[in-house]
Amino acid sequence: MAILLPGGAGYIGSHTAVELLNAGREIVIIDNFSNSKPEVLDKIKTITGKDFKFYEMDYRDKDALNKVFSENNIDAVINFAGYKAVGESVQKPIEYYENNIGGCLALLDVMRKYNCKKFIFSSSATVYGDPEVIPITEECKVGGTTNPYGTTKLFIEQILKDVFVSDNSMDICILRYFNPVGAHSSGLIGEEPQGIPNNLMPYVVRVAAGILPELSVFGNDYPTPDGTGVRDYIHVVDLAKGHVKALEKLDRENSGLYIYNLGTGTGYSVLDMVKAFESSTGKIVKYKIAPRRAGDIATCYANPKKAEEELGWKAEKTLEDMCRDSWNYIEKSQN
Ligand code: NAD
Ligand code: UD1
Repeated sequence: MAILLPGGAGYIGSHTAVELLNAGREIVIIDNFSNSKPEVLDKIKTITGKDFKFYEMDYRDKDALNKVFSENNIDAVINFAGYKAVGESVQKPIEYYENNIGGCLALLDVMRKYNCKKFIFSSSATVYGDPEVIPITEECKVGGTTNPYGTTKLFIEQILKDVFVSDNSMDICILRYFNPVGAHSSGLIGEEPQGIPNNLMPYVVRVAAGILPELSVFGNDYPTPDGTGVRDYIHVVDLAKGHVKALEKLDRENSGLYIYNLGTGTGYSVLDMVKAFESSTGKIVKYKIAPRRAGDIATCYANPKKAEEELGWKAEKTLEDMCRDSWNYIEKSQN
């Protein structure tokens, strides 16, 4: 019985592949390398000492998906594939809706044909929009997304709820990630943003490495302790382990639709992150205060209790681990 990972060569997918292989699971990865590189596959094998099957394909291609399902005994799908750049999604809404939603629909259709019931979906805290309560619980209202990327997550969550209503033998888990950062401690796999990064941590790392001149801190007049935006940064290896636990939950249940926040429950400001990075790596991060970024909210962090109680999962890595591993990855990849 194998677990299918569409987008498994990407940032979160590759770390989850490692944790699944370490947990003794058989995996099959499919990816079209639109935002990843083939070398990642060998690195997953080097880290784990284990082999797996790979198909280079578009996950929207139903003929190719049929081939994958007919050649393998797929027990569950963990879908990481999709586009994820918020700014780009505003410029290319058709591409984002087509890839993110079209791909999910193709997967669900082929799963139905092969009677595959377990589906885990990479959602995001972005579905909460400007959250009404902090820390955010899974019961908080969703909606009010400010860009097409976020809206694809919202729509896919709704599609999954509708699919479950139509077939309640489905076993579905929606994981709402907070802010994934860091890299595997080996320094072999990590985040590879194309061009100038939009997210905070990849930007900080590149300023420290001298690749970018300085960080713009987007706003210091938010209603937060130091005026800068507060987020729930979670180490990608903790996040990856959350998927192993979610899969175990689906293995225990015959059917259901479950939603979990995957975050640490602690919020850190932009300046907290800069200071933590400097003290854990000994590098200087030059920064300036800049205007707020459109679409940003002041504060966003999870109440992760439900995942702890129902999945037996809790983020364990520290802020220092996140900073050190992000730095280790860029140093290794620069060399
Ligand atoms: P990523 O871009 O590193 O990984 C996505 C992978 O999917 C890439 O390897 C890409 O090549 C592949 N892919 C894209 N379109 C494809 C297609 N049509 N067919 C086959 N493969 C395709 O992104 P990530 O950071 O690993 O994110 C994984 C998932 O988690 C995404 O759905 C993303 O929206 C979601 N998510 C990410 C974050 C984050 O901050 N990284 C936060 C919340 C949610
Ligand atoms: C962003 C996306 C969100 C997505 C998430 C993970 C927006 C509006 N939201 O969330 O949809 O799910 O990434 O991919 O883009 N910051 C700076 N300077 C920078 C970069 C960021 O000050 O150069 C600040 C931001 O204002 C924010 C914090 O750092 O306060 C974190 O930003 P980022 O890493 O982009 O994540 P989010 O905004 O939480």
